[in-house]
Amino acid sequence: MIFLALRCDSLTVTGNTRPTLYKPSSTDEFVLPQDGDILEYITLDPAFLLADKVCGFPIYLYHPGRDRFVLFKSDGTKISQDTLEILSKGGRRPVFVPRANSYELNHYLSENLTKIVEDPNVQVEEKTQKFHTMAQMVMKSLFESPPDMDSFLVTSKNVSDSIAMLLTTEPQAILLLNNLRSYDYYTYSHSMNVCVLSVGLFQEIQKKCTPDHVRDLSRGVLLHDIGKCDIPTELTNKRGPLSEAEWEIMRSHTTKGFQRLMDDSEMTDDTRYVALYHHEAVDGSGYPTGKKNDQLPLTSRICKVVDVYDALTSKRSYKDGMTPFEALQIMTKEMKSKLDQDILKEFVLFLQKMGKLRVRRAG
Ligand SMILES: [Fe+2]
Ligand SMILES: [Fe+2]
Repeated sequence: MIFLALRCDSLTVTGNTRPTLYKPSSTDEFVLPQDGDILEYITLDPAFLLADKVCGFPIYLYHPGRDRFVLFKSDGTKISQDTLEILSKGGRRPVFVPRANSYELNHYLSENLTKIVEDPNVQVEEKTQKFHTMAQMVMKSLFESPPDMDSFLVTSKNVSDSIAMLLTTEPQAILLLNNLRSYDYYTYSHSMNVCVLSVGLFQEIQKKCTPDHVRDLSRGVLLHDIGKCDIPTELTNKRGPLSEAEWEIMRSHTTKGFQRLMDDSEMTDDTRYVALYHHEAVDGSGYPTGKKNDQLPLTSRICKVVDVYDALTSKRSYKDGMTPFEALQIMTKEMKSKLDQDILKEFVLFLQKMGKLRVRRAG
């Protein structure tokens, strides 16, 4: 993307006095601010804004001549289709939202995900690409700067429900989303990866599942590690081995996550049990309860298989990610007693179907 110098002398910049709104024209040219300048702002592709929908956050543009951000839209106002077109002409011009408004922005973006899925005028490839970028952006912000738990749950439900809707209405989207998958391990990207693959696998196994079943699974899997928000970051980010006492605390993310979901009356038990049981093993050697086989719901057994697969194939600071082939070998041999082998067989078929199973991942 190329950004040129902004040529407009009639701007009124932001300051202590009430700013005059800046109206961009199609002849204005823009630059991006220096790295240091954007720490206080979130850079946003205007393609993520919807025409005629109220934004609960202010939007700024950058004025390089005055080396400042200029207010473009106050919070509580709408952006017209014409303005969006001006921002998108000749290469998109980024807009900026104060980090202090990240919750309002996330909530707005998470609500827009459904609109993207429902838009009949956009091809599935473009739709899925846009969806993935927005959903990742929201989840990253949620996990890295968590708002209060109620806001966290409202926004993440929007994301998980729209993933369920996308995968239910666009059969091709599962392959496209899997191709967009991030191999760097972060809790937010891991949660997205496990959610997408678990929903796809669940639909393969339960051909007659209802949209409500898919939604409940999607919510549970996207939030399966939500209990990690209650674990001290020194522990979740620790690079060396954990002591037994530290492991004990880490393992508590299952019960802590379950408790979080119990506090939300919109969640069903199907959703909550995914968070509670996703570290159980079918031979009873898992935690927190030691339940085995059919004592564990199908949804948590699916989440377990995909969770292990994503953890093995993702790159960490201390190890490279395994190839799908290497990961599946470990899962079918060394972890045979712990994973539901029927689900694992379905998972292998599912990956083959997507054409993603290779002896070596390219590169
Ligand atoms: Fe976990
Ligand atoms: Fe996980």
